Amino acid sequence: MDRQISILIIDDDPGACETLSDILKDEGYKVLTLERGLQGVEQIKTRFFNVVLLDINLPDVSGLEVLKAIKKIEPEVCVIMITGYARLENVIEALNEGADAYINKPLNIDEVKLIIKREVERQILSQEKKRLEHQLLQSEKLAGIGILASGIAHEINNPLFGIMGMAEAILEEENLKLIKEHTKDIIKYSVEASEIVRDLAGYVQTAEAGDFGPLNINEKLNDTIKIARHSTKFGDVKIITDYRPIPSIKANSSEIQQVFLNLINNAVQSMNGKGRLILSTMPSEDYVEIKVIDNGHGIPKGHINKIFDPFFTTKEVGKGTGLGLNIVHRIIIKYKGSIEVESEEGKGTTFTVRFPVKANT
Ligand SMILES: Nc1ncnc2c1ncn2[C@@H]1O[C@H](COP(=O)(O)OP(=O)(O)OP(=O)(O)O)[C@@H](O)[C@H]1O
Ligand SMILES: [Mg+2]
Repeated sequence: MDRQISILIIDDDPGACETLSDILKDEGYKVLTLERGLQGVEQIKTRFFNVVLLDINLPDVSGLEVLKAIKKIEPEVCVIMITGYARLENVIEALNEGADAYINKPLNIDEVKLIIKREVERQILSQEKKRLEHQLLQSEKLAGIGILASGIAHEINNPLFGIMGMAEAILEEENLKLIKEHTKDIIKYSVEASEIVRDLAGYVQTAEAGDFGPLNINEKLNDTIKIARHSTKFGDVKIITDYRPIPSIKANSSEIQQVFLNLINNAVQSMNGKGRLILSTMPSEDYVEIKVIDNGHGIPKGHINKIFDPFFTTKEVGKGTGLGLNIVHRIIIKYKGSIEVESEEGKGTTFTVRFPVKANT
């Protein structure tokens, strides 16, 4: 074992505690035993235990109350209930309250060892899964910032060339009126450049912020269009917005931006520089409903079931990671929302996203 697995036993029978503790220590676990439920809750507040073996009958508070308190403080802890007499309703209630497993008294040591081993493995796998998911989200965000940065560098070149050209013209110019005209142009190009930089700064800021404030999706969509313009080529793609008044949702603004940035980028990329993108929002019962509609090349039937898979892409090597829609899906699920896609080859694609209003506010 890399890091020693720690186990807390909460049981008011000192004899049973000691025997169990000795056996588990021999197995290589770090063990602490306590007789009272409240002492156990205090311990959970101060340090992490991988597993708690918790007697359902305790002298001070009921094991079920202790289970609830532990899961509230640290949901990652695996709690195994020890049930004195296998009363089914107790077991069911404990499992409903989040207990991970149960064992009956009198304890069968081999069974205890097996269950602990299984639960610890499950815990480690789930922690690893969470870590990888977090890493995936971060890397997609970074990739997004990278693409945006290169788009911005490219775009800033235009006003910079304008500024350079005008400055050179001023150097050669004697006519005061024309000098003033050129100076005005320099100011205009500088404002253009600073707006591009401001959009990038806004994106990076929201990408870093961990806020969960009430979010107005209509406003967020407008911000996202600005960002999208810097990260993908719009060409002659027209944007039509049809926003209805909708309630705010409680969500992290950076994550919501990530959802729509990916959907807009995909839509624009499918239109190859010519087409129309419709963004619409409307309230729909307890949801807000957002549609992203393009008239691009569409998605072949055989691909529809794969587009949310990680790394599925039809773009050239180096053009797409295939992570976009996977991240979109994860974020939407996190907020208990939904995403649907309808598409016809050669005609276009509609993504419909719904976020619940009540669950989030
Ligand atoms: N609006 C759309 N129109 C047509 N095809 C789409 C659309 N959105 C997604 N797809 C298809 O789904 C695939 C997966 O999309 P996803 O956003 O996950 O990855 P990607 O766009 O290929 O790469 P990345 O998002 O990393 O740039 C795309 O390669 C494309 O084939
Ligand atoms: Mg994409």
